[in-house]
Amino acid sequence: MKPAFSAPASDTALPVTPPPVPAGLHDVLCLADFEPKARRRLPRPIYGYIAGAAEDNQSRDDNRRAFEEYGFTTRVLVDVSQRSQAVELWGERFSSPFGIAPMGINALSTYRGDVVLARAAQQAGIASIMSGSSLIPLETVAAAAPRTWFQAYLPGDLARIEALVDRVARAGYRTLVLTVDIPVSANRENNVRTGFTTPLRPGLRLAWDGLTRPRWLAGTFARTLLRHGMPHFENSFATRGAPILSANVMRDFSARDHLSWRHLEQIRRQWQGRLVVKGILSVADAVAARERGVDGVILSNHGGRQLDGAVSPMRVLGPVVDAVGDLPVMIDSGFRRGSDVLKALALGARMVFVGRPFNYAAAVAGEAGVAHAIGLLRAEVDRNLAMLGVDSCAGLSRECLISKTR
Ligand code: GLV
Repeated sequence: MKPAFSAPASDTALPVTPPPVPAGLHDVLCLADFEPKARRRLPRPIYGYIAGAAEDNQSRDDNRRAFEEYGFTTRVLVDVSQRSQAVELWGERFSSPFGIAPMGINALSTYRGDVVLARAAQQAGIASIMSGSSLIPLETVAAAAPRTWFQAYLPGDLARIEALVDRVARAGYRTLVLTVDIPVSANRENNVRTGFTTPLRPGLRLAWDGLTRPRWLAGTFARTLLRHGMPHFENSFATRGAPILSANVMRDFSARDHLSWRHLEQIRRQWQGRLVVKGILSVADAVAARERGVDGVILSNHGGRQLDGAVSPMRVLGPVVDAVGDLPVMIDSGFRRGSDVLKALALGARMVFVGRPFNYAAAVAGEAGVAHAIGLLRAEVDRNLAMLGVDSCAGLSRECLISKTR
């Protein structure tokens, strides 16, 4: 079994010195600990939007279950004193094998959320993907953290595709991620129950939700309004979209169900940078993406937020890696622990993306909160590498795992 990674030649042992723990976060010992704090900080519909999945949460639950179905086998008496978790992708070095997944409208849960996430990631030397469903212009994020990747939701409309791709290139992005698992909006009943819509509809209920979260109201919402005006969807198209708060404006989701492989071919012809397709869950689609010249794929069920019942991407990871040769296969959906990350790497993933916990960390404590979250996950990866008896991600292979279901 060939190793999943080649460790960067120049890399020496990575000192795993976590940043100082920010005030109020001494009881946050793992990524899951951010969630209850965020729940107390955020208005109910906003917290619900982040936390929620689709219909009966079958996919969200499967994402966690899939990790439990693998156990580690360890090697002992290996000198792991010089270990490093740094990885290389497309010739670029990342200090950890995990990054921040794209998350929509996070400037609503955190003041300048997209900038906060991108800066914290860049500071820590990890990958981070800005969502196209966002309230801060993509140019602002590129200026604050130039290594950020941009994730687009594109309609099946060549003119609009061309205009947005052109804008992303002009802003200086080098990696474009096209999300392909959203031909239609998912059935998110939780949003209906909490009153979450985009745009948000003003009313007594929304006012109450905001007033009962004064720290969010003052520190995020009012501060944003005062300093930057009413947030709008800035990056769905080449031009500005709907405001986040409006009694009657509708968001334009048109023609997403027209998007096809033909459009991907067009994007490949136009986009000179690295092109990644996110939302793949089958060997056939991974192979089809490779045939169209993409630079990588991200296996994902969108954190369980789209097709309820879609399998955890962990269940297709091994077969996809076997089918696509050296095309980088990345993954997201449900990763919460260093051990989860290492299981995916052992199956051949080149990078793992983590979403909601970083969103909560930002909402609770801004950039310092995200740095704390990165530090926690990084320490888990480091500790577990040592206990597995490997000194780099390149040392992980399927021999480290046993499936408990076979
Ligand atoms: C956006 O990507 C969402 O899942 O809400």
